[in-house]
Amino acid sequence: MDKAGYLKGIIPVELIQQIRNSAESTLKQVRDDYFPQKTIEDFQKDHIEHAIPSIVSKIITLRFLDLELMTSLKERVEGQISEIYNKSEPSSLLIHPGFYLRFSWPNNLSAEKKTEPLLDSAPHYDVTFGLPAHTFWIPLVEINDDTGGLCYFKGDKIFELFPRSFNKNKYNYETYLKIAPTIDKKLKEGIVRHEIELGDALTWDSTLLHGATRPKTSVRMSIDFRLVNPSELKKCSKNVQKTFDEVNKDFDITRAQNLMIIGDFLGAARILEVISEKTKNSFMNKMAATMKACRPYPEILKKGTNFYWQDEYKWIVEDY
Ligand SMILES: [Fe+2]
Repeated sequence: MDKAGYLKGIIPVELIQQIRNSAESTLKQVRDDYFPQKTIEDFQKDHIEHAIPSIVSKIITLRFLDLELMTSLKERVEGQISEIYNKSEPSSLLIHPGFYLRFSWPNNLSAEKKTEPLLDSAPHYDVTFGLPAHTFWIPLVEINDDTGGLCYFKGDKIFELFPRSFNKNKYNYETYLKIAPTIDKKLKEGIVRHEIELGDALTWDSTLLHGATRPKTSVRMSIDFRLVNPSELKKCSKNVQKTFDEVNKDFDITRAQNLMIIGDFLGAARILEVISEKTKNSFMNKMAATMKACRPYPEILKKGTNFYWQDEYKWIVEDY
């Protein structure tokens, strides 16, 4: 497959609106917890940048995207895969440990990076953990030229620049920015973009070279997550298998563990409180109370601390 599948009306519009409200509330919650003196605009400018995910944007994702929401989205989209790819897939796929809630603002590049590049995300293949995955991109606002959005590419010259990768992409956003002035013209010639209505989604697999264009005048919000065929996981290293096992066995606990390793003890405590309430596990409540007394790691409070996917799940394995 050389293009993204367009899933029309896959999520009810009311549900998308609820998800967007909840995402915005989580963003405000993190601002109130750690930066109460900042306006939402300054908080966004200083701590969240789509192009290079920040530690704060990861905290917002992990606090926000719980098992209930993930399951609801997964159930709506996974049945589409067999049809799109014209091959049978198992009825239940595994949740990939890499999932994101993304906010992208116009003019979100800090001054030293302001070369007006075409893209918000370098052209890349979704090959995190080195295994093939089905990605789903669900915008929480209507996508048009003003918001920018997911894009993919066609043309041999572009594929020469960005050869197919099976485990590591040739460029990250920082290295793309360096070459953007010389390659953006070529990328523009081969770019494919979609206008997307609320409730629609895009899906693609690990063979699709894609990126995202920068918003011009409107804020973009989106969720992206990946599903994996269990037979692909069997070919991976034990460390990758263990990470998938933990996420699929105890999704909400792993969110709390990731927040702890990042140093957002308050966010982790809130998740444990919810689990404690549901399971009547008083030990979890005690842990939550203890964590609430811990100070956040200073990296969270610094402006623009980047966060790389390799830094997650360090409580499972130090390195992949
Ligand atoms: Fe991607």
